[in-house]
Amino acid sequence: MAVLYALFHWLPHALLLSLCVIFVAFLGYCFYIKHTHLKYDHIPGPPRTRFLGNGLVTARNHEQWYKQRRIMDPAFSSLGLMSTFNERADKLMDKLSEHADNKTVANMLHLFNCVAMDIIAKVAFGVELDLLRTSSPFPKAVETCLKGMCYYVRDYKPQNWSYINEVREACRLLRSTGAQWINQRKTAMQNGEDVPKDILTQIIKSARQEESMGKEDEEFMLDNFVTFFIAGQETTANQLAFCVMELGRHPDIVEKARKEVDEVIGMKREINYDDLGNLTYLSQVLKESLRLYPPLVGTSRDLNNDMVIDGIRIPGGVTCVLSTYTACRLEKFFKDPMKFDPDRFHPDAPKPYYCYYPFALGPRACLGQNFAQMEAKVVMAKLLQRFDFTLVPGQSFDVRDTGTLRPKSGVPSVFFSQTENTVPPCDVT
Ligand code: HEM
Repeated sequence: MAVLYALFHWLPHALLLSLCVIFVAFLGYCFYIKHTHLKYDHIPGPPRTRFLGNGLVTARNHEQWYKQRRIMDPAFSSLGLMSTFNERADKLMDKLSEHADNKTVANMLHLFNCVAMDIIAKVAFGVELDLLRTSSPFPKAVETCLKGMCYYVRDYKPQNWSYINEVREACRLLRSTGAQWINQRKTAMQNGEDVPKDILTQIIKSARQEESMGKEDEEFMLDNFVTFFIAGQETTANQLAFCVMELGRHPDIVEKARKEVDEVIGMKREINYDDLGNLTYLSQVLKESLRLYPPLVGTSRDLNNDMVIDGIRIPGGVTCVLSTYTACRLEKFFKDPMKFDPDRFHPDAPKPYYCYYPFALGPRACLGQNFAQMEAKVVMAKLLQRFDFTLVPGQSFDVRDTGTLRPKSGVPSVFFSQTENTVPPCDVT
């Protein structure tokens, strides 16, 4: 009897206490999720996986960003890009020749991804990948991480668990690769070896001095490794794929661009820096491609103070989202906006005024803008110099936004060598 009495007496208290404990644990969990969300980026699911962290693109603290940008800016001018652009673009041309000879379909988005990743690995990190010849988990990992950023904590439902694990694994692969490459470079530096003044060296410099390097500094270096690995590749590959997609639909524009390439480059294999400046129509084509299909559809900026823009008061403390994708498709800013028309960017045409910003504007504009456009021009000039192509009929021209904007179809195309026997083979200068 006494036992029953005690049970009935204490049971409600015990239940209440358990509920309180569960509630407090839940609150703690919510705070933890909120804290890590604010601190890092959007790879979903607890415990959070650090992805781009406080790297150059995602750093929110001005001081932290400025310190990195100051170190990275000069690194770009000493990369010695043209030889790598030429060499890697030639490898792509060899691959396209194989497709032309064997009459097989080339998935252009995939091929451009391989080339762009080879280039960034070589010039930024001093690593040879050769993805056009060897298979590698990196392209898929980058795609998976970017897609994963579109998932949020509310998506952490049981049916998404396996996908979220896949995202985390992809993210871990990129960061562990970064750790390996950074350690190799640090060892070379410690041994007094001659190391290139590339992005990897700058990443190591922008973290703290070796002696006092802690876990957070190591993580910070990985943030920047992943930032450059992704920023330097996905966007340019998508731009090139969209460009081929639109050229495939506009033979008149191809003809005009090819005529310019013939005049400027002729049968030369090595494209130099001056040639790029003379390819003005090709620049216009690339700019128009970015107008309709900006790989990053927009950007956001935190407003610290109240502002009045065009008569509208915007309170301080909010985040403003700006979409170049939307602005570039408005009749208000571009006549007949859906028409692919490179002449909008003719040197004598009026410049678009704050409505075209595929690389963003202001101090946080893209650091790799020139790099990307030089690379894109070398690849497109060689492609036009050597091939005719058609798009595989029936393909979709839809776009897909999975962190970056990409062509949904992958742009399957068929290539024909147009200048066989006229361009000297690789080893002939
Ligand atoms: C077509 C190619 C590219 C496009 C469309 C593009 C676009 C952009 C945009 C819109 C931003 C601003 C992001 C923001 O405001 O939040 C940005 C930033 C950045 N991009 Fe690019 N990008 C391209 C290629 C590259 C390449 C090739 C690299 C490196 C090799 C690169 C490195 C960066 C970096 C480091 C930042 C951060 C700059 C900062 O905050 O100081 N980008 N990019």
